[in-house]
Amino acid sequence: MSELSTERLAQELSTRRYGRSLRHLPSTDSTNDDARSAIEAGVPSGHVIVADAQTHGRGSRGRVWSSPGGTDLYLSIIDRLPVALAELPPLTLAVGLGVAEAADALLSARGAALSQVKWPNDVWIAGRKCAGILVEASTIANALDAIVIGIGLNLNRMEFPEELGQATSLRLSSGVQQPFDRTTALCALLASVERWVDRFAHDGAASIVEALTPKLALLGRRARCADVHGIVCGVAASGALQLDTGQGVTSVIAGRLEAIDSA
Ligand code: BTN
Repeated sequence: MSELSTERLAQELSTRRYGRSLRHLPSTDSTNDDARSAIEAGVPSGHVIVADAQTHGRGSRGRVWSSPGGTDLYLSIIDRLPVALAELPPLTLAVGLGVAEAADALLSARGAALSQVKWPNDVWIAGRKCAGILVEASTIANALDAIVIGIGLNLNRMEFPEELGQATSLRLSSGVQQPFDRTTALCALLASVERWVDRFAHDGAASIVEALTPKLALLGRRARCADVHGIVCGVAASGALQLDTGQGVTSVIAGRLEAIDSA
């Protein structure tokens, strides 16, 4: 068990916006749901809600995000970005790069394997999922008002329910028993995610996609997504996955990406 210390967090935080206003809850239904209420209450951009446990943690496509107490990180960041609603899809990949960068910084101290971004919203270590991202938009009159960036990072958990499939945590994948410090990990996570989200907002999606390519899980592998079969060859600036079907490159905007080769 590694307790989250908001006092230490305030001292160690290196961000400009993220976490400068923060609410820490021992348990909640879902930090993404709390974030929606916080937007209505007018919290500043960069406000973070972090919980030690969630009773109804939500994943993408209506799935449950397993959120037991005290080991991992469950947080939602509220941001107000100068981007249009239609430009949002690649944001999830920018957040993925931020999560992967923070994971790599923590893992490199243990000489452990590096992480990859698995399109569209996962972070993997050695083919196993260690983090998930759920970005939700809050709109007023069909225009973007605020964005909720929900992140679940498996930090210290050593066992996973079977139904989660191929899951891991940073601690488990590092092969070192010592738990990661949750406060240090949260500081690293907020700093990296802020950096990549700012890069997305200022330099555009193309710069995210360029940085993503060397970190993209399943690149060059035979895979399927939304009934399209092909070799994973990259991500378009729109955020769409690109599969080379043999008859050309097909873009897929949503679906679950699965390898179908044996590598
Ligand atoms: C996924 O991989 O399907 C996305 C998982 C996102 C989980 C996080 S945990 C914090 C935040 N609150 C939620 O209810 N979900 C996100």
